[in-house]
Amino acid sequence: MNKEIFINQEIPHESSTKHVSGQAQYTDDISEPLGTLYGAIGWSKRAHAIIKKINLEEVIKSEGVVSVITSKDIPGRNDVGPVYDGDPIFPKKAEYFGQPLFAVAAISTELARKAVLKAKISYKSLKVINNIQEALKKKSFVLKENKIRKGEPLKKINESRYKLKGKFTTGSQEHFALEGHVAFTVPGEDNDYKVYSSTQHPSETQQIIAKVLNQKSNTITVEVRRIGGGFGGKETQSFIFAAICTLLSKKTKCPVKLRVDRDEEIIITGKRHDFFSTYEVGFDELGVFQGLNLKISSKCGISPDLSGAINQRTLLHLDNAYCIENILAENYLCKTNTASNTAFRGFGGNQGMMIIENIIDNVARHLKKDPAEIRRRNFYQNYKKNITHYGMKIEDNVIHAIFDKLIKSSNYKRRRLEIKKFNSENKYIKKGIAIIPVKFGISFTTMHLNQAGALVHIYCNDGSCHINTGAIEMGQGTYTKIAQLAAAELGLPLKKIKVSATRTDKVPNTSASAASSTTDLNGAAMLDAIKKIKRNLSQFVKRKYKLKSDDVIYENGLVKFKGKKFKFNKLIKEAYLNRVSLSSSGFYSTPKIRFNLKKFYGRPFLYFCYGAAVSEVLIDTLTGENKILQVDILHDAGKAINPAIELGQIEGGFLQGAGWLTMEEVKWKANGTITTHSPSTYKIPAVNDMPEKFNVEIFKDGKNNENVVNKSKTTGEPPLMNAMSVFFAIKDAISSIGNHDISPVIDAPATPEKILMSINSLKAKL
Ligand code: MTE
Ligand code: HPA
Ligand code: MOS
Repeated sequence: MNKEIFINQEIPHESSTKHVSGQAQYTDDISEPLGTLYGAIGWSKRAHAIIKKINLEEVIKSEGVVSVITSKDIPGRNDVGPVYDGDPIFPKKAEYFGQPLFAVAAISTELARKAVLKAKISYKSLKVINNIQEALKKKSFVLKENKIRKGEPLKKINESRYKLKGKFTTGSQEHFALEGHVAFTVPGEDNDYKVYSSTQHPSETQQIIAKVLNQKSNTITVEVRRIGGGFGGKETQSFIFAAICTLLSKKTKCPVKLRVDRDEEIIITGKRHDFFSTYEVGFDELGVFQGLNLKISSKCGISPDLSGAINQRTLLHLDNAYCIENILAENYLCKTNTASNTAFRGFGGNQGMMIIENIIDNVARHLKKDPAEIRRRNFYQNYKKNITHYGMKIEDNVIHAIFDKLIKSSNYKRRRLEIKKFNSENKYIKKGIAIIPVKFGISFTTMHLNQAGALVHIYCNDGSCHINTGAIEMGQGTYTKIAQLAAAELGLPLKKIKVSATRTDKVPNTSASAASSTTDLNGAAMLDAIKKIKRNLSQFVKRKYKLKSDDVIYENGLVKFKGKKFKFNKLIKEAYLNRVSLSSSGFYSTPKIRFNLKKFYGRPFLYFCYGAAVSEVLIDTLTGENKILQVDILHDAGKAINPAIELGQIEGGFLQGAGWLTMEEVKWKANGTITTHSPSTYKIPAVNDMPEKFNVEIFKDGKNNENVVNKSKTTGEPPLMNAMSVFFAIKDAISSIGNHDISPVIDAPATPEKILMSINSLKAKL
């Protein structure tokens, strides 16, 4: 047995059998103390209105109701906005359809939900802004616009041999995690509250509840063992539920659980930002970018929430894998009367990448070249053309290797010819193929969030190890990977390591589990704690056995010093009897990163993740229906901590991205009512939508040049972007209708309806 057995291995997710057997405890499964009450939220039926009166008489009288709360029951801050105000718990003026206005505690969830429907609310309706165009026209923004500029974009565009102009939209996306929003608050003595919340961000939940109650943070403890998926939707959008739940608990002095149903969750919470952009690009006869001028607008909903950081990440990913030396981009953050849009896997980066991928696709089609060729030609290089538009030198570029390998292994060139033949022989069914690169920057774009803490105990009687960090297990496997890292560091089998529930009283001031950085940050903090304990052990052994050397190896349950060997358990017991500390906190802050937002200049990312994907699709030109026939992905996970878990992330991320770009569509009526609020009207990918042939491989030569745990690279968000290939394969199939003479115009998501419209407009030009 060698030391590597715990790491780089396909070890099952620590909860996999519990997940499938129903034994994994989620917030709603925690045993409830006697007297637990259940909450429900009453929300606005208008998208923009002055609330003249809320009459709750019938609500209070309703069967099983114990208490109601309104804005008057909030002792402190009536807002759950994470960075800025703008997300009132119960507002004076309703700003979106679904905005919470009051809440009820009753003896059952069913009775609470029945009761809230009995409210009589009189509104004075106001004008509704529910799309980007209108917000731009009315100058309705949540934050000031951004403007970035590098080189001489306008001059270069003017001087270019070729120019193109256009516009492009990408749509919103509902998070649709398996476990919906839920919170459970148990009051303690001294106005202390223990809050269980399905959140990616326990520390900010704690801080926000403390402000809402006007209490000190040390009176609120938030605990999260696991969440049933977050995807960014629980980075901030969980706060309002935890806050309302705790307010109900405060008023009733009882434990309260608040679990909203799927429709209400979709109605109340924000989603992915839709983006609309216009572009002007100048390029040469080889399709190489000369200059780019962009105007990019996002739909933020009623408040800033995380929109500032999200739009910043959009601007930081406009290049994807391409060197753009002359660029001007204006960025508007539109305020609309819709739920406040929020983090969603990719965090605005993917929206930026779609903008440039659409442009490069159009450039290639204009020149009548294979888009793969034009994409490759614009890649960042290794010794020149390796500085991003924000001044960061790319030192870890592996996109050429990945792209070229995938072109070969997927038989891209041969299949392109076969598709051409197929299309010439079939009138109504057309095929398309596309390859796209992915480059995604890793680190929080908000600098101070790049830190983490951990707490590690080793128990003296049996040498078992107990770990707490700030990491949230959301299905992505961070607990498993942290346990693997610990096992390798201590030379112990996995069964001796326990990563336990994330709690604000164990590890304080944590960042959200987000930005794909959870294991990078928390794993490193955990290793720091273990190293401190190991230092204590070394000092003790050297002192007691008069050893000189610092060399020590932990493996296979043994601790080997030069000249002395211990069984791990025996050493731990002996150290305890000699009064040596076997517990430590740990800390990590990401090195090297720095960024000047005003100048839009610096090194915002520690490293980049790379990948590429080839998708082949089939469309029915009479109905717009489509199918993904084959997908080949080659993705960089560095030196993967757990290849099985990384593969799961790569496959899952891809399908979630395919949903965003081809089938998921969030729709509102002109009056601001959301119409796609249930699985019957909102379609997410299911098993049948998996590609028929799905060849996913981890890039074998991958390693992280930076000092990241196990030299690994995260697979959290980046794999979603591999799905861009599906969209451009669909565009390729449409393009074949006009024998590739005319570049199709299509926005994302490429639903059957949009595909059909694109086909019709293309045919009209033939
Ligand atoms: N995978 C699962 N199963 N569930 C999730 O909620 N969230 C994604 C990604 N993969 C998510 C997931 C998002 S948005 C992020 S930022 C990362 O996981 C967070 O986890 P990591 O930092 O450990 O990669
Ligand atoms: N990703 C996710 N969440 C964040 C980020 C980010 O880059 N910055 C601030 N919150
Ligand atoms: Mo992920 S969008 O950073 O939670």
